[in-house]
This record gives sequence, C-alpha cells and structure tokens, in this order.
Amino acid sequence: MITIKSPAEIDLMKKAGHVVEETLEMLGAMCKAGVTTKELNKAADDFIRSKGAIPSFLNYNGYPKSICTSVNQQVVHGIPGNYRIKDGDIVSCDVGAILNGWHGDAARTFLVGNVSDDVKKLVDVTRECFFKGMEQAVPGNHLEDIARAIQTHAEMHGYGVVRELVGHGIGRAMHEAPEVPNYVDRRHGRGARLVAGMTIAIEPMINLGTREVYSLSDGWTVVTRDGKPSAHYENTIAITDNGPKLLTLSI
Ligand code: MF3
Ligand code: CO
Repeated sequence: MITIKSPAEIDLMKKAGHVVEETLEMLGAMCKAGVTTKELNKAADDFIRSKGAIPSFLNYNGYPKSICTSVNQQVVHGIPGNYRIKDGDIVSCDVGAILNGWHGDAARTFLVGNVSDDVKKLVDVTRECFFKGMEQAVPGNHLEDIARAIQTHAEMHGYGVVRELVGHGIGRAMHEAPEVPNYVDRRHGRGARLVAGMTIAIEPMINLGTREVYSLSDGWTVVTRDGKPSAHYENTIAITDNGPKLLTLSI
C-alpha cells in the first residue's frame, strides 16, 4: 500500500531529510586520501545522533554500520571498515536517518583528488539521471515515466543501469511501497500513478560498463561484474501539486 503524507507530515520528513543532507555535506568534506571508511561511518553516526536523530541503516536486516560507503567498482551497500581512501577514488556515501519517527535517505558519489575524466563524467551523468527522473515525479505521471527518463539519459552515454536494486517509497519506514526502478520493463507496465503526497527515494545506480552486478560474500557489498566503476545519487522527494519537492537537498 502506498501511504499518502499530508503537507505537515512532508514538513516533518524535510526535517529528517535535512539531517541526512548535512551529514552528506560533512562526509563530502571528509572524503580525502588517507581517510578510512570507518572514520566516515563514525563521524556520520556521531553527527546524526547529535541532531537527535537515529541512523536508520544500523541493524537494518542485520546491516552492521550506520552508513554505506561504496568505493569505485562497489555499487552500493559497501560496509565501512579499514579501507583507506586514495587519490583517484570515487566514494559513494549512502545515509539514512530517522527524526521524530520520519525517515530521510540520500546518497552522493564523491570524487577524491585526481579522478579520470571518464569517471567524473559517470558521476555527473548519474546526478543528472536523478534530476531527469525527478522532473517526471508529478501528479498524473506514472513510475515508468521516472524510470524511462533515468534509463534514457544513462544509456545515451553508453552506461549500464543497475536493475537488481531500485528506489522506494519512504516515510515512517525506510522502505515503503512502491518500488521505484531506474529502468523500463514491460513486466512493470506503467507502474503506479503518481499523486500528491507520495514520498519516494529516487536512486539511480549507474555503471561505466556492464549493468551486471553481484554481491560479495560479506552478504552486502554489491559490485560491478566487470570491475569498472559505478556511481550512485539519491534523494528523498515528495510529489506535490506544485511539482517535486526535494527533502534531502536544499537548493
Ligand atoms: N539507502 C539504501 C536504500 O535506499 C539503504 C541501505 S541498506 C542498509 O535502500 F542496509 F544499509 F540499510
Ligand atoms: Co534508498
């Protein structure tokens, strides 16, 4: 069931989303050569709690850390640990927080030092994919319109669109109906019709090479089949009669 949020509830989600946004800003400033991913995790966990919020990923289905840090060929759900970030890496940070019972969820891919031009382009296009998708998030459109916009933009650049993981509804739970895929499939049909008050996380995961991925034996980390880099960009948004409203990004 897709839950519809009132304008007051969307305002509460914006407050949760703001904690996520600020956490990501801090992580972006920290993503420098020499820093370990577990240091990123600790800083994010401390920051979220300092705002009176709770990191939603910790213990989610047994997930052991408070954020996900996915480096280079890691697509999503990388577990922070002893890995030391080095020049030329791209680091996807995914953050979720609960504030007063409401969830925010967002991700960014950060560039570290001298990243090659083709990988920079991948990161730029992945962010663009999100915004192309978001433009379609208006009442009367369907989920398929979001998916088509994302897939078209990514494939125009020759990139692979990950299919095994998708965006999602969000609200009092991190994962609510509906699923929000980044690709069109006739088996999905047009998908749910969008109405004002839906809140969703749109999160393109885009690969430089093949779209194929697999999971590592840690049970979480998703990596590209060909070992080429992958980028991730996510925001929580609300669908409103005045157009899409970003809940994890202030612009
Ligand atoms: N941000 C991820 C999502 O959108 C959630 C991370 S999975 C977790 O689904 F286990 F780390 F929580
Ligand atoms: Co998400």
